[in-house]
Amino acid sequence: MFTSIFLAINVALAANLPRSDCHDHEQHRRLPGNWYHECDHPVHNLFKRGAPGDGINYAEVGSPSWSSAFPTSTPDTSQLPQAWVDALNDAVSSGKIPNIPESTSTSDRSPVYPDGFDPDGSEVCSSSYQCRIPEDIWDAPTGTLGIGFDDGPLPPTPRLVTFLQSQNQSATHFMIGSNILSNPNQFNAAYNIGGDIAVHTYTHPYMTTLTNIQVVAELGWTMEIIHNSTGGRVPRFWRPPYGDSDNRVRAIAAEVFGLECIMWNRDTDDWSMESGGTTMRAISRKMKKWLTGPKTPGLIILEHELTTDMVQAFINAYPFMKSNGWNTTSVARLVGDGRPYQNSNNDDSTVTADGILVAATPSATSSITG
Ligand SMILES: *[C@@H]1O[C@H](CO)[C@@H](O)[C@H](O)[C@H]1NC(C)=O
Ligand SMILES: *[C@@H]1O[C@H](CO)[C@@H](O)[C@H](O)[C@H]1NC(C)=O
Ligand SMILES: *[C@@H]1O[C@H](CO)[C@@H](O)[C@H](O)[C@H]1NC(C)=O
Ligand SMILES: [Zn+2]
Repeated sequence: MFTSIFLAINVALAANLPRSDCHDHEQHRRLPGNWYHECDHPVHNLFKRGAPGDGINYAEVGSPSWSSAFPTSTPDTSQLPQAWVDALNDAVSSGKIPNIPESTSTSDRSPVYPDGFDPDGSEVCSSSYQCRIPEDIWDAPTGTLGIGFDDGPLPPTPRLVTFLQSQNQSATHFMIGSNILSNPNQFNAAYNIGGDIAVHTYTHPYMTTLTNIQVVAELGWTMEIIHNSTGGRVPRFWRPPYGDSDNRVRAIAAEVFGLECIMWNRDTDDWSMESGGTTMRAISRKMKKWLTGPKTPGLIILEHELTTDMVQAFINAYPFMKSNGWNTTSVARLVGDGRPYQNSNNDDSTVTADGILVAATPSATSSITG
């Protein structure tokens, strides 16, 4: 829900200001729903943004015209929008992307770098080796527990969001772009109850093994499909598959797309339930230990929406999160001052004082400008 004064301002903005007039946008940047970047940040040019009156109608999620223009698998780097390629080239030529070689993926091991590049050193700083890049987010504020799920949308997603909704609980979904393409109804289920949508790449590769332009393709298409499926919201956060990032990949995400990285500080290993790597009981033991443990730092727990069992592991743990006094909030809102998107406060959702989501409608593209 938005106030009428807010709506009026946005309509006026959209009606009177040319889209390219960044200066005018900046005058209004303290308003909700405006851009928070400097005007010359490349992300302004990368996604066609919708606002009332600007003539953009996004195709209905799941319709043939929605799906037709998105890659069905690993994106072809020779078929990228020129604006993305230009933004990468600009970032490289202005020295913003560290010249770190790609790693090599070896099965069941962290990616390996060529001799002379220390994954733990400050130049590379590979998160696969638990090196923490200072700009990345690993911890939640004291007393808070950031709720988030990786790898959706998938068939178990509706069960998860039905539970979340029954608890008025907000959550972030780190989604895989190609899963959005093949599971549009499950995407809608998560988004329509006010779930925050974040980027988990298009095809889930080890990102440090990719070339710069491949990194752009994986992130860009995921942003584009989220953008075009949420009435124009530009995601603000991403999470690397397998937690595999380094200073080069981080810089591309941040400099080309304005993305900030959310890692985690507790790992349920729930993804290995299927193969017997862990069990419901083992997850529940871990959860109880964490939830009854220290409140500093706050918790960001890695969980997945891959299977019904993984969803159930979260549902089982949820009462203990509450009974142990944790402030449970969508991780993107928690670490993002309530703003899960770069160009919208998601303010069509009514959020109560304790950060709990009440209800949301997906239709309020009027809350977006710029
Ligand atoms: C995303 O939506 C914009 C605005 O309608 C459109 O120009 C663009 O082609 C869409 N992207 C895809 C991949 O369909
Ligand atoms: C969720 O919020 C609604 C509206 O404020 C309230 O009526 C309901 O009791 C809440 N449910 C829970 C489980 O807190
Ligand atoms: C929970 O954390 C969020 C984000 O920091 C904050 O807005 C909210 O007021 C907190 N709620 C409670 C009950 O402490
Ligand atoms: Zn994943």
